[in-house]
Amino acid sequence: MARFTLPRDLYHGKGALETLKTFEGKRAVICVGGGSMKKFGFLDRAISYLQEAGMEVKVIEGIEPDPSVETVMKGAETMQAFQPDWIVAMGGGSPIDAAKAMWIKYEYPDITFEDMCQVFGLPKLRKKAHFCAISSTSGTATEVTAFSIITDYKKGIKYPIADFEITPDVAIVDPDLAETMPPKLVAHTGMDALTHAIEAYVSTAHCDYSDPLAIFAIKMIQKNLIESYRGDMEKRDMMHNAQCLAGMAFSNALLGIVHSMAHKTGAAFADYGAHIIHGAANAMYLPKVIAFNAKDPTAKKRYGEIVDYMGLGGSNDDEKIERLIAYLRKMNDELNIPHGIKQYGADSYPVEQGFVPEKVFLERLPEIAKNALLDACTGSNPRQPSQEEMEKLLKCCYYDTEVDF
Ligand SMILES: NC(=O)c1ccc[n+]([C@@H]2O[C@H](COP(=O)([O-])OP(=O)(O)OC[C@H]3O[C@@H](n4cnc5c(N)ncnc54)[C@H](O)[C@@H]3O)[C@@H](O)[C@H]2O)c1
Ligand SMILES: [Zn+2]
Repeated sequence: MARFTLPRDLYHGKGALETLKTFEGKRAVICVGGGSMKKFGFLDRAISYLQEAGMEVKVIEGIEPDPSVETVMKGAETMQAFQPDWIVAMGGGSPIDAAKAMWIKYEYPDITFEDMCQVFGLPKLRKKAHFCAISSTSGTATEVTAFSIITDYKKGIKYPIADFEITPDVAIVDPDLAETMPPKLVAHTGMDALTHAIEAYVSTAHCDYSDPLAIFAIKMIQKNLIESYRGDMEKRDMMHNAQCLAGMAFSNALLGIVHSMAHKTGAAFADYGAHIIHGAANAMYLPKVIAFNAKDPTAKKRYGEIVDYMGLGGSNDDEKIERLIAYLRKMNDELNIPHGIKQYGADSYPVEQGFVPEKVFLERLPEIAKNALLDACTGSNPRQPSQEEMEKLLKCCYYDTEVDF
């Protein structure tokens, strides 16, 4: 038996934010990030809609990108004092993910972060509050997923919390919010969405319910991402739906080792002054992982199906995979994303020598590979790598060399 879970309600299209006016409750907390929602007026609108619905509103502001365990614990304390019956999280993946984890801690004050990270092991939520997620980036689709990614900065590791309990009750997918994204954010979040859809399609947990969502999302992203990056707002709006469809697919079909590697490299070099941004990490690793996974006959066939659906040609599966890899690399070029960690500059753009020194990368490699193998996304990857293979794969991701094993 398998389970397929999505939010109970999804409001989409321009102006969907207004649906907050119809919410019923006494107190709502709104969780936002560093200021973009305030700056562009969406926070004020959300506050006034909820007030119009008769609710007292409190705002938790300043949730940082790649939120920490400490931010989660602090936010949960604020919720404990305010006792909201609605948690409304608005912004990119970071504030929404942090709010999901705060929600768990608010409902169960004694729970530890380690307890939360037990995959599909959460107790029942919704005893105190319901959860509404409003996405402002077109990538993570956390507004519809069963995941929350929280970073333990002491360990330099991103941990996924995974359980259908944290699938939001209501998702609002209003493209107005995505129109203010700067191009770099469009590029990174868009490649994150494409990785979600491709990993979900070849995942060992894929099913008849997730496949159509994944494959349609791939096609939509192929049609819209580059033009959205160049400023076409109609395409931007379509990307907002595409990423959400990809999220519906992967929330149920799970992901693969592109994400395991992105989670374990993202914060691993933070002491050298930067993060490897989630979407950029995925964009760099995806072509390498496709080459690795394609040694598995079932994965190879499924990548071939993706290529057929994208209309990339190729007369056999080997040729199709070559075309897919070439196509993705060209997308990275058009989106100004490097092909390997070695070329990844502190500002995420391609440079001769990036912010991660070779020596440091090689020193940390065994530990990163070990952690990547333990990541919750590894289990559903179509080919299970050994420690040695994971290290080799990560090296190919660093040096941008071909994967031939
Ligand atoms: N929960 C999941 O299912 C899931 C899936 C993939 C990734 N993630 C996690 O999500 C996080 C990344 O989220 P993200 O890529 O959405 O970015 P983000 O939330 O970290 O935001 C990045 C930056 O963009 C700004 N921003 C957000 N929306 C904007 C807008 N509309 N206009 C202008 N600026 C805007 C933010 O203020 C922030 O500075 C990572 O921690 C990643 O690991 C979660
Ligand atoms: Zn992702």
